[in-house]
Amino acid sequence: MSTALVILAAGKGTRMNSDIPKVLHPIAQAPMLVHAMRAGAVLSPERTVIVTGHGSDAVAKVAAAEDDSAQIAMQEEQLGTAHAVAQARDALAGFTGDVVVLYGDTPFLQPDTLERMIAARAKNDLVILGFEAANPARYGRLVMNGDSLERIVEFKEATDQERAITFCNSGLLACDAETLFALIDAVGNDNAAKEFYLTDVVEIARNRGLKVTAVACDEAQTLGVNSRTDLAAADAVFQANARAELLDLGVTLMAPETVYLAADTVIGRDTVIEPNVVFGPGVTVESGATIRAFSHLEGCHVSRGAIVGPYARLRPGAELAENTRIGNFVEVKNAEIAEGAKVNHLSYIGDASVGAASNIGAGTITCNYDGVMKHRTTIGENVFVGSNTMLVAPVTLGDGAMTATGTVVTRDVESDALAVARAKQDNKPGYARKLFDMLKAKKARRDKGA
Ligand code: UD1
Ligand code: MG
Repeated sequence: MSTALVILAAGKGTRMNSDIPKVLHPIAQAPMLVHAMRAGAVLSPERTVIVTGHGSDAVAKVAAAEDDSAQIAMQEEQLGTAHAVAQARDALAGFTGDVVVLYGDTPFLQPDTLERMIAARAKNDLVILGFEAANPARYGRLVMNGDSLERIVEFKEATDQERAITFCNSGLLACDAETLFALIDAVGNDNAAKEFYLTDVVEIARNRGLKVTAVACDEAQTLGVNSRTDLAAADAVFQANARAELLDLGVTLMAPETVYLAADTVIGRDTVIEPNVVFGPGVTVESGATIRAFSHLEGCHVSRGAIVGPYARLRPGAELAENTRIGNFVEVKNAEIAEGAKVNHLSYIGDASVGAASNIGAGTITCNYDGVMKHRTTIGENVFVGSNTMLVAPVTLGDGAMTATGTVVTRDVESDALAVARAKQDNKPGYARKLFDMLKAKKARRDKGA
């Protein structure tokens, strides 16, 4: 049976108090929408439709970056969840199979929950995902009759007796496409909110003699985000789960609660992460590496046995081969550091390649930007770059080359050559003493005058 995903993401998210559409607010540095899309991806959907409204262009861009086949359905006015799903009808023209409706602001959904919904669909016409709520608050209530779901009553419409029900609607459902759109056509807006409630499809389906059931999951999976407080709480939950997962996978986190992970961080076994390390998106660290305290990594790859930090910054395109060393206050961007190479102190290596076993001295800078364009620096193998060398790109240092400390390299250096480009030293005997005396006398005159 083929599946299509419809992700509802048109809501304004008023309580976020933001110019950014709610579903684009990040959890672990990935937009909530992306979390929802990744959760839905386990069903290998034939089509994915994102229903957008507020900030549609921005939402469409993020959706396309995650899945370029995702379709966008515009909901001009937010007239309710049934109206939102109805907007996906054109995008699903010709599709036969199950539609799974997800919310874009529910980032914790687990793959097996969706699989259980699909399994339940085999025996039912319509499947709703429910959960036992610790505090049912304003959720829609699921009115069950044995295994059969009779109807969903929205909090606003519920009687006191119905409000006492703790089995609540997550908002997710699975239904055959043709059946779902036929049910939605019958939904009206004669209710307290004057909205077209998707939840009404349950009672309509029952009246038509269809089989409807609810599958249950943990409340944690249905956690929605409506405010910045919810967002922070959701991020904290995500971090706690992700850290626990890494620990189980054999990664050492010296102070787990201080390590900030991204949704896609990959770290290999026996790697040690010291306290206060931040992972941005797109980081892979292989086994047996060490990331020392206060380092910041994003969009980079760290190979086995590499040691990074403390206080290192790896930016997108930093590619560290095995057993490399990136030390304190070193920034690496869009650069390959080959096996065994070392950049241990106070350097910027950008738009560059550093060959195997080369050593980059303290304070070395690749001057990669001329104010208009970026240029590359190519450093061969076994090169020794003296401290405080300025490498004015584009420039190449051949294998085995050396630069003298303080050299400003503006021309290529051939293999095994030494480049020296600095002013000659001139020692003036007795001048230091004379200069001190002169300055002290000057200070004494000034102090007297004051
Ligand atoms: C909905 C359910 C409720 C359930 C709760 C779970 C209905 C009528 N009610 O209520 O039973 O317990 O979710 O969180 O479905 N959206 C659109 N377009 C619209 C309206 C909403 O795209 O016109 C999107 C929102 O962006 C959001 C989702 O649909 O992602 C749910 O909408 P929301 O307004 O939060 O519904 P609730 O009142 O919370
Ligand atoms: Mg809601």
